[in-house]
Amino acid sequence: MKTAITELFGIRYPIIQGGMHYVGFAELAAAVSNAGGLGIITGLTQNTPELLAKEIARCRDMTDKPFGVNLTFLPSFTAPPYREYIAAIREGGIKAVETAGRSPEQYMPALKAAGIKVIHKCTSVRHSLKAEKIGCDAVSVDGFECGGHPGEDDIPNMILLPRAADELKIPFVASGGMADARSLVAALSMGAAGMNMGTRFIATKEAPVHPNVKKALVEANELDTRLVMRSLRNTERVLKNKGVDELLGIEREMGASLKIEDIHEQVAGVYPKVMIDGDMDAGAWSCGMVVGLINDIPTVKELIDRIMVEAEAIIRQRLTGFLNGVEVQKPARAVA
Ligand SMILES: Cc1cc2nc3c(=O)[nH]c(=O)nc-3n(C[C@H](O)[C@H](O)[C@H](O)COP(=O)(O)O)c2cc1C
Repeated sequence: MKTAITELFGIRYPIIQGGMHYVGFAELAAAVSNAGGLGIITGLTQNTPELLAKEIARCRDMTDKPFGVNLTFLPSFTAPPYREYIAAIREGGIKAVETAGRSPEQYMPALKAAGIKVIHKCTSVRHSLKAEKIGCDAVSVDGFECGGHPGEDDIPNMILLPRAADELKIPFVASGGMADARSLVAALSMGAAGMNMGTRFIATKEAPVHPNVKKALVEANELDTRLVMRSLRNTERVLKNKGVDELLGIEREMGASLKIEDIHEQVAGVYPKVMIDGDMDAGAWSCGMVVGLINDIPTVKELIDRIMVEAEAIIRQRLTGFLNGVEVQKPARAVA
């Protein structure tokens, strides 16, 4: 399949694996890139720029295909040394960077000077337009259903994607709620040039996380996510668990007076406990509503091949069938 996104990043299929804290290690990024998508290493999961350089080298040993690095600009007490991270990215020969959180404006000259294509992930049309204006090559448009930080506008992808298509000149991918061939074809129909998946890629054989995490995703349904930190304007969609119930209890109690310190135990240092130790009640970790569409743990290649084969069937048979007046017997399903 050829779209503006496959051409931009030199990949076979228009499928990107979004950066994921404590999930986006070399193993997953390489598996996605080897399967024809764009794998992404999560930059800040590596505690120092030196460790990121090593992770990039490790990924390079596992794939000769293009892969990228995610740089997340979130509010924090002590900002990470972003310029040093970017130096590691440049020296590692990376040609694709997914930025997220705050605007990457101040880092654009350094990224562009190295010939890096920048795809900025954002949750609104106005932020997408800003990304276009500051020279980003593409946008990942992240709807309200997404795992992680959906922003504060609460616009789902059914509206957000066509709105982005109406306004943007640069290509964009649909992010949030994407799981299968139906997601991809729908995203393409709404003007996107591909899709970005987070949660779905965690439930794959290669995702280097504790088996309990994958099991929890297969068992959960679309009703099992919760929004936390709303009153702090740092909303995050997470999988419900005991720690999240406690967190929501504190939020209810504290109301508008809530401070980040009040929920420190339920949000700080949770990722290694969940992803490495498999402690599923540790607290808040990102998960999308798309968890309701995850029923198996395939290899990344099986997942991507299935998406592409079924997308072709939906386009050639189901959709063309409607045009040709042929009665389509079976509904489009994720797994044939
Ligand atoms: C466990 C997890 C961790 C994530 N960590 C990050 C992160 O560190 N930086 C980032 O930009 N996005 C992060 N995301 C968001 C994903 O890159 C992606 O945008 C999102 O998952 C898309 O929604 P989906 O889960 O419905 O596919 C994370 C998502 C998950 C599920």
